[in-house]
Order: sequence, then C-alpha cells, then structure tokens
Amino acid sequence: MTYDWNRLQPPKEMKSFEAKWARRYEPLSFSGVWRFHELLPFAPPEKVVTIGEGQTLLQASTGVARYVGSEPGRLFLQYEGMNPSGSFKDNGMSAAFTHAHMIGAARAACASTGNTSASLALYCSVTRLMKAVIFVGSGKIAYGKLSQALDYGALTVQIAGDFDDAMARVKEVSRELGIYLVNSVNPFRLEGQKTIMFRVIEALRWQVPDWIVVPGGNLGNSSAFGKAFIELKELGLIDRIPRLAVINAAGANTLHELYTRRGLRWNGGRIDTPKSTGYYEELDAGKRRASTIASAIEINRPVNLEKCLRALDACDGVVREVSDQDMMDAKAQVGAGGLGCEPASAASVAGTKLLRSEGIIGADERVVCILTGHQLKDPDATVAYHTTDQDKFNAVLGSRGIKRAAFANRAVAVSNDLDEIIKAIRLYS
Ligand code: F0G
Repeated sequence: MTYDWNRLQPPKEMKSFEAKWARRYEPLSFSGVWRFHELLPFAPPEKVVTIGEGQTLLQASTGVARYVGSEPGRLFLQYEGMNPSGSFKDNGMSAAFTHAHMIGAARAACASTGNTSASLALYCSVTRLMKAVIFVGSGKIAYGKLSQALDYGALTVQIAGDFDDAMARVKEVSRELGIYLVNSVNPFRLEGQKTIMFRVIEALRWQVPDWIVVPGGNLGNSSAFGKAFIELKELGLIDRIPRLAVINAAGANTLHELYTRRGLRWNGGRIDTPKSTGYYEELDAGKRRASTIASAIEINRPVNLEKCLRALDACDGVVREVSDQDMMDAKAQVGAGGLGCEPASAASVAGTKLLRSEGIIGADERVVCILTGHQLKDPDATVAYHTTDQDKFNAVLGSRGIKRAAFANRAVAVSNDLDEIIKAIRLYS
C-alpha cells in the first residue's frame, strides 16, 4: 500500500505526536495505533475501530542485557503482550478491522497459530460489528489462545492439519463465501503494525535504535517495520534506518533457509519466489512440516515473504534461526528479569544473543527486542520448563529436543506442616 503524501498532511516532525498525549480522553488519541493516524491515513476518523490497543511499554532490561552480552542500558524489551488480547496482533487488527468496517463486512475470518484468532475474536466480541470465523490447526495452538477464542464467542474451526493447511483453506473459504480475510496478507494489518516502531522511537525520545530484533513467522511484523522506516525516512522524519534482524525457529526456518543459506534477495522487486526456486516442492517431497515449541511461529509458508525481503533490503537486515532450547532458556531469562513472554517472542532475545556472539551486534549498540506475546499465552510450556516432574518435562519439552532447563525455578514440595514449611523457607530463601 502506498500513499501520495503530497495530497495528505504528514507531520513535519515526530515530536508533534506528543500533543496527543494531553488528549487521552479521545479514543483516537488514546490508542497507541491511532495517535499516529497521519502515518496510516487510509480511514476517515469516524470509521476507525479502536478498543484501546497499543498501550505498550519499552523497558531497558539489565538482566537480559547481561544474558545476551550487551552493555547495561543498551538492551530494550518492547512488551507487545500488554495489548488487550495479549499480543502485538491488536495493532494490525485495529487497522484491518477498521477497513472491514469501512466496506461493511459482516463476517471476518483468519487462519491462526492462536494470537491472530484471539485478537479477531476480541474485536468482534467488544464491538459486535462482525462475526469471527477462525481456522486453527487441531492441537497446534497454545491453550491460553484457544481459551480466548472460545470465551469471546468466535466460530472456531479446528482443522486436522497445521497452520499452513489452515491458511490455504481460509483463503479458499473466504473467497467462496465472501468473508473478509484479516490474515497479514491483508495490507491494512501491516499499516497498524507499523505503529509498533513509532512507539519504540517515541519511547526513545524519537531516537532510532541500532537494531530491531523480531521473531519471524508469517513475516507480517518484519514487513511492516521495514515499511514504517522506509516511509519515515522518505518523509524526512528520521535520519537513518535501524538494522533489522528476523529470527526463525530452527524447526520453521523457511526465511533463514532461503535468505541466509541460499542467498534469496529482494533484488529491486525481481524476486525468485519459493515457487520458482522449488523450495516448497522440496518441503513436500521430504514430507517436512514446521515443528517447534514456539507454536506461534510454527509456519513453513510465510505469506509475507516477498515484503519481508524488501524490509531486509531497506534495513540492511540479517536472518538467523534459534533452537527450541535457546528460545526456552531466553524466555526464562526474560521472565526472571522482566514482564515475561511466550516462547516465540523469546526468539528475539535468543537471536540477539546469537548475533552478539557472532560479533554482528556490538555490545554498545542499542538493541530493541520485540516481545510479541504475553507470558500467559502458553502456560504449558512455562510450567514444563520449571517442573520437577520429569515425565511432564519430557512430554512437553524433551520431545522437542530440549535437554535441560538451566534457569528453572523449581517449586518446593513440603508436607502440610508448619515446622516443615518454615524449614523449607529458611533453607531456600
Ligand atoms: N510472535 C507471536 C507471539 C505470534 O503470534 C506470531 C504470529 C509471531 C511472533 C510471528 O509474527 O507473522 O508477523 O512474523 N502469529 C500468527 C498468528 C501467525 O496466527 O497468531 P509474524
């Protein structure tokens, strides 16, 4: 989506958005998405749908800085889990939902690994403007997310397959039944997700960090972040573009395979697609399906691959993959020294640690890791990591090649006896 900025009124400096802070009683100024309306000017104000998304936090984390090998004060965590549905998806959903409302849609659909569906279900239940139809892979989404879709009253279609199957089906079904599709193939989603970057630089007093590190699944965020910086630079609102690192799970690593190993590039828009390189046929021939504890990014056919290549080109980007072990350890470190996150989000911290060890990210560089989803989204993974029950550990984590929980905080079992309880507290505290 491109704007003719000459016919619009973009701001002259980012600082001008600060005026909105004094008008928090207006929903469009309160929203962390719509207070940047001039930078996503596709909807008239009266059509904008907001439920108060984007009240998120950028926090410098000393513990996580130490863990990844950054100097104190140089590592920041952007907590998108603080959104109303508990993930970054609300940024994009608010924008896509606004567009759906503009064109009078009665039903909206998505395929999801859980967070997009929770977000869509929430916007439908709060606003009552549309009916949510969601497609999920059976057994493929974390319980926190499934519980949201059910609670918010979405029509929940569980497909015997994974996200890639659900995505293919939802495209067919929405075409057939004329249902509005809100997956990030929808360009309005990306417009909303640009605002995560606006808030990051807002929190840094309008300074641009050196690195943005983000997990890669369907590659909507990375594409949106690249677009945000391209536009800000074009408009003269920033003087330089940060570098972008996109981190795949090793068990769902299409972008890493194509970009880092096989050298696929944006190339001015003349891209060899995975179709033309035959990569997806290779996956099918080898019967390879995405598989990772980070179920949010358990995706082998990312719908925004081309746009992400454009973002990597504009942001001098790098792509890495990290193991489930590394993600779970990084997640424990985030939880121990911050507000916590779900497994996929910790890919950004594990990826930063890797890029620090390779010397690609410098110890003194300012790094922002995007924590995409709330800690409570996937309690099974967290409890299994900290458990003393070896069978539970093996069932949830061991089966994925995770061997140890180096940062486990084990619960202490005591009998229901005052002396025993006091003894245990004295021993462990
Ligand atoms: N982190 C979390 C917590 C997610 O839920 C997702 C995507 C990603 C990262 C990846 O983001 O697609 O922009 O690269 N979840 C989608 C869903 C696929 O259906 O909820 P991306």
